[in-house]
Amino acid sequence: SDRKYDPYRPSSHVFDLITRDAKILCQELDPMPEEETRKLALLQRLSDIANEVFGQAEVLPFGSSGNGLALANADMDVCVFLNSQQMAEEVSPVEFVERIGDRLEKDNEFENILQLKRARVPIVKLNHINGIACDIGYQNDLAIWNTRLLRAYCRVDTRVRDVVVVIKKWAKCRKINNPYTGSLSSYAYVLLVIHVLQRQGVLPNLQTIVSGNGKIPYWDCQGFNRYFFEDIPNLARYWQQTPEAATQTVGELLYEFFRYFASEFRYASHVVSIRSGGLLTKESKEWTKDFTQPHPQHPQPQAPADDAPQSEEQMQADTRPIVKNRYLFCIEDPFELNHNIGRPVDRYSLFTIRGEFMRAAKILSKNGDGAITRLCYERE
Ligand code: CTP
Ligand code: MG
Repeated sequence: SDRKYDPYRPSSHVFDLITRDAKILCQELDPMPEEETRKLALLQRLSDIANEVFGQAEVLPFGSSGNGLALANADMDVCVFLNSQQMAEEVSPVEFVERIGDRLEKDNEFENILQLKRARVPIVKLNHINGIACDIGYQNDLAIWNTRLLRAYCRVDTRVRDVVVVIKKWAKCRKINNPYTGSLSSYAYVLLVIHVLQRQGVLPNLQTIVSGNGKIPYWDCQGFNRYFFEDIPNLARYWQQTPEAATQTVGELLYEFFRYFASEFRYASHVVSIRSGGLLTKESKEWTKDFTQPHPQHPQPQAPADDAPQSEEQMQADTRPIVKNRYLFCIEDPFELNHNIGRPVDRYSLFTIRGEFMRAAKILSKNGDGAITRLCYERE
């Protein structure tokens, strides 16, 4: 093997203990069928309400409720699609949030309703009295497709879910799973896991596998190519794991994940890119300078009279909230190639997150017994 020499790499006995405990944790965190039932009921309820407010509407689950990577008591992400093209064009995301938010307020089965109009992707957040927390988005086709991509990766190998569940649990316990406060979304962590598993040869790049021998098709979705190989039962015709990848344990893969992001990944110059099956440089993507821009979807009170480029004064008069794009931790979205999923990470939170990668690698390299428990000690 050409694996780099790693003086901290634990023995296979340690890996076996970590694997055993990781699998126990995964079973404990598997959602019960009863929870699925409550989610389905809420989905139906939201679908009725969306139809009432907008006429013909469809409500689809995405995120962990659609990709097979949910932990017990996970939030539900849903997206409302208006079936009429005309309606969809008329109702802006911010207006959608207002209208559905105001309607939900009238029902006492919904609590803590928040209208997040200033988010990059405007959403309504709420808690249902049956105990489910829910985010409601709007016309987000790409989210449906990236959910399906993650689900496909999950189906390639059962170890994907095992690794993801431990990483999600660890990130939540260590309080580095909140994009609103500068850390990473679960979606970001799943992309990081897929990246490491691609490097290890455990996962292929589904976006470059084509049945037959044709070239990669272009399937448009909101201006991006949403093509990927989804026929997982027939994947073996086009791609096989190496024997080495096939025998790696969940414990080894977890250690490799933390080791890689603690000491190998070059934050200053590299971009994690699962759609290219490896790394890109920040330079090649022109992701070198942070920049701010007015919120693209927020209504602008003083819209310029014509299409002329805005002057300094007009820019200053723009009262829309400012969106800050940062390129400190670069994780390319698999479809929306100009979107850095690590955008919320600032200098301070990057320091914290990297510290957590190092802490985790250290814990797993010491003693397998109880390592998973120590890994997930609550911070603060
Ligand atoms: N998403 C996205 N871009 C982001 C964050 C999220 O497109 N920057 C979409 C993805 O479709 C993702 C979904 O929102 O699958 C949900 O994201 P998130 O809640 O972070 O992931 P979950 O898998 O739902 O994790 P959790 O169970 O922790 O909620
Ligand atoms: Mg979610």
